[in-house]
Amino acid sequence: MRLWKWTGGLTGIAVLVGIGVGVVVGAPVADGVDRYFSSNKFCAQTCHVMEATVAVELAESAHGTTISGVVPQCKDCHVSEDLIGAYIDHIKGTRELYANLILGIDTVEEFEEVRFDAANRVRMHLVNNDSENCRSCHVMEKIKPERVRGQRQHAEAQEKNITCIVCHYDLVHKETALSEEFDAIVSSY
Ligand code: HEC
Ligand code: HEC
Ligand code: HEC
Repeated sequence: MRLWKWTGGLTGIAVLVGIGVGVVVGAPVADGVDRYFSSNKFCAQTCHVMEATVAVELAESAHGTTISGVVPQCKDCHVSEDLIGAYIDHIKGTRELYANLILGIDTVEEFEEVRFDAANRVRMHLVNNDSENCRSCHVMEKIKPERVRGQRQHAEAQEKNITCIVCHYDLVHKETALSEEFDAIVSSY
């Protein structure tokens, strides 16, 4: 493929994607910018409402209180691992989530009004990427659910390729109703 040759393979593509999203300043800076947007600082501290809601919820959840002390950061569940994916997420998902739904929200009450839509976006995103964020820590074949119900459902999940979020929603944040769209996927199994 000529474009492939011309761009010098993957590195070229990465540069092209970088330019494509308006990052012309080079990878090191881009990485810094990415880290800023991926950090808990951007997600929680600079945004008071996030701190008072979803961050507290995470801290009190099973993921915020693990025996091993491994505590996932916002980005672990909400931003793709690789840099290009992370950019696409910032543009498409995360940034859209913050820009359209969360940015400019000044009070907890205002946040609660958009929580339903926000939760649905995150859930649908995880459906569409096969819960890749969860899999960056959890290896399906290695999980040993304690109870029989979990063992049975995990066997079924592997057999039918059911993705994590379909069963493990309301994982770390306040319980939020299912949208029709997401409910239809959950009920299809
Ligand atoms: C262990 C994974 C995980 C971590 C860590 C995590 N989230 Fe979430 N988050 C989710 C999932 C899954 C949803 C989708 C809603 C649901 O089912 O709980 C979600 C939903 C959200 C929503 C939409 C509103 C809602 O209540 O559903 C916001 C905003 C959010 N997360 C922000 C954050 C912030 C900020 C942090 C860090 C302080 C964070 N999340 C950490 C998994 C995570
Ligand atoms: C940064 C790593 C990390 C990420 C990302 C992560 N987890 Fe976890 N998860 C853990 C750790 C650590 C525990 C504590 C239990 C353990 O050590 O086995 C845990 C516990 C759990 C548990 C059992 C406790 C509970 O809440 O019922 C479930 C279920 C679970 N994770 C599902 C998920 C799903 C689904 C996602 C994606 C939305 C996810 N995890 C993302 C590290 C992670
Ligand atoms: C078909 C539904 C289903 C799917 C899909 C599924 N799980 Fe589970 N999982 C369960 C159930 C049910 C349990 C048992 C919960 C209980 O007993 O409280 C469980 C238990 C767990 C546990 C251990 C909790 C414990 O200590 O017993 C972890 C960790 C976990 N799941 C993570 C995941 C991850 C990560 C994925 C995706 C790679 C996933 N699960 C996919 C239904 C599912």
